[in-house]
Amino acid sequence: MLLSPSLLSANFGNLEAEMEWFNRSSADWLHIDVMDGVFVPNISFGFPVLKHVARLCSKPLDVHLMIVQPEKFVNEVKALGAYLMNVHYEACTHLHRVVGQIHEAGMKAGVTLNPATPVGVLEDIVADLDLVLLMSVNPGFGGQKFIPHTLEKVRELRALLDKTGSRALIEIDGGVNMETGKLLKEAGADVLVAGNAIFGAPNPAQACEELAKL
Ligand code: DX5
Ligand code: ZN
Repeated sequence: MLLSPSLLSANFGNLEAEMEWFNRSSADWLHIDVMDGVFVPNISFGFPVLKHVARLCSKPLDVHLMIVQPEKFVNEVKALGAYLMNVHYEACTHLHRVVGQIHEAGMKAGVTLNPATPVGVLEDIVADLDLVLLMSVNPGFGGQKFIPHTLEKVRELRALLDKTGSRALIEIDGGVNMETGKLLKEAGADVLVAGNAIFGAPNPAQACEELAKL
C-alpha cells in the first residue's frame, strides 16, 4: 500500500520544518486538502500557500479538491506540479469532461466519493480513472472517526474495477490509523491518507514509518 499523509494536520506555523522530516520519511505522496467553505463547511488553504508547500516538498502531490466547480482550477493545480488531481463526484455535473481536462493537463485523474455516495455511480467512468478516493468520514475536518461501512465500499469498488477492467487505485481518506489501516488493507485498499494519526503523533516520522509498513 501507498501512504499519503495529509497536510491538513501539519503545523502551518512551521511548514519548512514539517517538510524537512517529511521529505526524508517513508511517505509516498503528500495529500493536500483544498476546501472552499461551500462544498464543505470549512476553509483550509489556497494556491498562494500551496505554491510554497510545493517548493518545499520533494514527494508527489496528491491534491484533493473539496470545492465546487473544481474544473476552474485545473491550471492552478497543474502549476503546482501536482501528480494527481482529485475532484468530488458530487461537485461535477460534467465529470467525464473534467477527467479529460485533468488528463490533458498531464496529471493523473482521481474521483472522490462522499460516504453516502454509492460506488456504482462510477460504473461508466471508472475505466478512465487513475484513482478512486473513498471518503471514510464526511469531508471538511481532520481527526474524525472512521465510518466502518467504508470497508464494504472498498470491496464493492474492487469488484467494480475487476468487472470494468479498470486499473484505478483505491484510496481511502478519513480516520485512518494503525487499526483501521489494517482493516482497509485486508479489504483491498491501495493508498491510505492519514492526517491526525501522523502529524498528531508524538513522533510523526515514526508514525509514518509504522503506517507505511502495514
Ligand atoms: C477530510 C480530509 C482528510 C483529512 C484526514 O476532509 O479530506 O484528508 O485530512 O484527516 P484524518 O486522517 O485526521 O482523519
Ligand atoms: Zn483529503
